[in-house]
Amino acid sequence: MKIFVLLCLLFLGHSIPVTFKDQCKCSKFPSETTCLEQINCIWNTSICQDRSCSQYYNKDKCNAVSHCSWNISNCREFTKCTDYFMNDPFDCYKIGNQDLNQFCMPTENGNYCKDYELAPCGNFEDDCSGFQSQWNLCYWYKNTCNVVDIRYCDTQLNEELCFIFGEGLGCQWKDNKCQMITCSDYTTESTCILQRQNFIEDGPLLCMWDGTKCIEAKDVSHLDYSNCLVNSFYNYIWDSTKGVCVSCKDYTPPTSQTP
Ligand SMILES: *[C@@H]1O[C@H](CO)[C@@H](O)[C@H](O)[C@H]1NC(C)=O
Ligand SMILES: *[C@@H]1O[C@H](CO)[C@@H](O)[C@H](O)[C@H]1NC(C)=O
Repeated sequence: MKIFVLLCLLFLGHSIPVTFKDQCKCSKFPSETTCLEQINCIWNTSICQDRSCSQYYNKDKCNAVSHCSWNISNCREFTKCTDYFMNDPFDCYKIGNQDLNQFCMPTENGNYCKDYELAPCGNFEDDCSGFQSQWNLCYWYKNTCNVVDIRYCDTQLNEELCFIFGEGLGCQWKDNKCQMITCSDYTTESTCILQRQNFIEDGPLLCMWDGTKCIEAKDVSHLDYSNCLVNSFYNYIWDSTKGVCVSCKDYTPPTSQTP
């Protein structure tokens, strides 16, 4: 009997994680309108396709795509850092190919970019800066050089770091430490959507409003046609034939549009 109760608790406690890799592919959007609502998709005759780098016409949108980089006036697949000339040298930090861990930085003189140079953290304030490995930032704090892992809320030493790196991770500065936002931290129905965990490694969890408070969602039955896609971190899509919110992995769009 005890085992049964435990199993039930485990089952009840199961929350819904959603991830970047399970987001709906462009091909899942059967109409031009829903296709074009997705910034990474483009409508081509009668199908919804992934936008290629050259089909982004805005610098920020271009650089936000992991493998695309903006060069002077157009967006292309990233090549190598030294191929880029920037009017604002700081823009070198915005290009690269995140999928291949390729990042760039400005050269000391001139506006060309170069490969990002990782350097071990030094012992003095002057050489305690930059990254010593992909996720490890050198950060001068309380008169010592600290190595800060930027992937987690609880490794951010102070409010400043919690704000800079924690925003994308879903961290908050609370009770004098940097900690993960949980569903129960949302106190209104309109903000009760996602509990963003460690964005780099784990996916966020869905939250739902139970009438009085925000709790972790056990499934997606609280979502409807208007919010299924957006509120599920684009992991679920509204199946209008069945009238339910379904996982993109399990969804087959209708083959032809009936007008
Ligand atoms: C449209 O799709 C066809 C077939 O996949 C492809 O050959 C063509 O390049 C696409 N056009 C654009 C503008 O992406
Ligand atoms: C960026 O544009 C400049 C000027 O058109 C060109 O010389 C350079 O090859 C381009 N770099 C890339 C990576 O396309």
